[in-house]
Amino acid sequence: MSPHRIPWLVSDLPDAAALGPFLARIDAARVYSNNGPLVQELESVLAAMVQAYHPQAPAPFVVLASSGTTALHMAAAASGAPAGATGTVPSFTFPATAHALQHAGFQVELADVDAQTGTLSPTAVSTAAAGPVVPVAVFGSVLDTALWDNVAKATGRPVIIDAAASFPHQAPGQCCHVVVSFHATKPFGIGEGGALITADPAMADRARKLANFGFEDGVVHAVGLNAKMSELHAAVGLAQAQRWPDLAQARADLWTAYRDALPQNRIMSCLAGQAVAPANLVLDCGDHAVDAVQQHLSAHGIGSRRLYTPGLHQHPWRRRQDQPCPVTEHLADCLISLPFHTRLTRADVCSIATAVRGLFGA
Ligand SMILES: Cc1ncc(COP(=O)(O)O)c(C=O)c1O
Repeated sequence: MSPHRIPWLVSDLPDAAALGPFLARIDAARVYSNNGPLVQELESVLAAMVQAYHPQAPAPFVVLASSGTTALHMAAAASGAPAGATGTVPSFTFPATAHALQHAGFQVELADVDAQTGTLSPTAVSTAAAGPVVPVAVFGSVLDTALWDNVAKATGRPVIIDAAASFPHQAPGQCCHVVVSFHATKPFGIGEGGALITADPAMADRARKLANFGFEDGVVHAVGLNAKMSELHAAVGLAQAQRWPDLAQARADLWTAYRDALPQNRIMSCLAGQAVAPANLVLDCGDHAVDAVQQHLSAHGIGSRRLYTPGLHQHPWRRRQDQPCPVTEHLADCLISLPFHTRLTRADVCSIATAVRGLFGA
């Protein structure tokens, strides 16, 4: 239970009544996992959702996984990068981005990020390494796939966009792939789940096999994992897909209300110009101490969160093996995430904007 009158996050998943018809199908089929009928149907439904937002993009293939982390793992393992090569991950991200690469057998190099996009700069990707490049679409932002297709072509390195919170808005490119999360905290939440989204059917096929222990025709050709989504989770996904038009509209309305009410120059730059609602509304506190901002909001009954702090390179796990990443350190120090969920009322947005303006001025 949040101590705040306006909690930072309230997840919005289908209720028991909405799940009923899908659970009844599982009861009838008595199939619970291993690429069952609901998983297959959800893959088609989700691919159609991505295509509806990007009718000009190549038709996507969706391979479901048990989480965003296992989806990243299977995508990296299926990417065709040489085993043991060094992959590049931004230092400004959630630890899973780097961990998945390591579990898939790659070394991980952490790179500082661009201040505007909050992720890797396409021009900074080197050909000295050969592992996967994993730019992150932070906080539900959307990356330019043409730029990342060019990086993949110019460097010969696979590019996997970690768009954990950006489903269904982040489409794959011609050759860059996308991974998303369906964790309960994400806009399209199902509890736990994730997916690879790619325009390359061969990549989808390899990933699907690796997600099933690497089996192909009853034998194993490569080290795999169990990343399969269960039918029960797919049931939640199918029910959630039916709710998506309403959820998307509620989030779009909220985004408009916030943009009208908040000081424009305070919204994190990569989110400010976005046409679709992001996952998180992130403010740049500038010279204001973030802790003081958080306390001020809390005193007004408003929950908030600091995200991706400290930078990955500053966690004890890395044992100080990385170069300093000043932009990451700056972002980790000055960003704060406000409530952005479907339980917020217009009055809540007004209260939040008033509290923010009280600190930063108009
Ligand atoms: C950028 C990023 N990548 C990967 C993940 C992992 O996703 P999951 O929790 O579904 O494993 C997260 C989770 O929030 C994330 O923020």
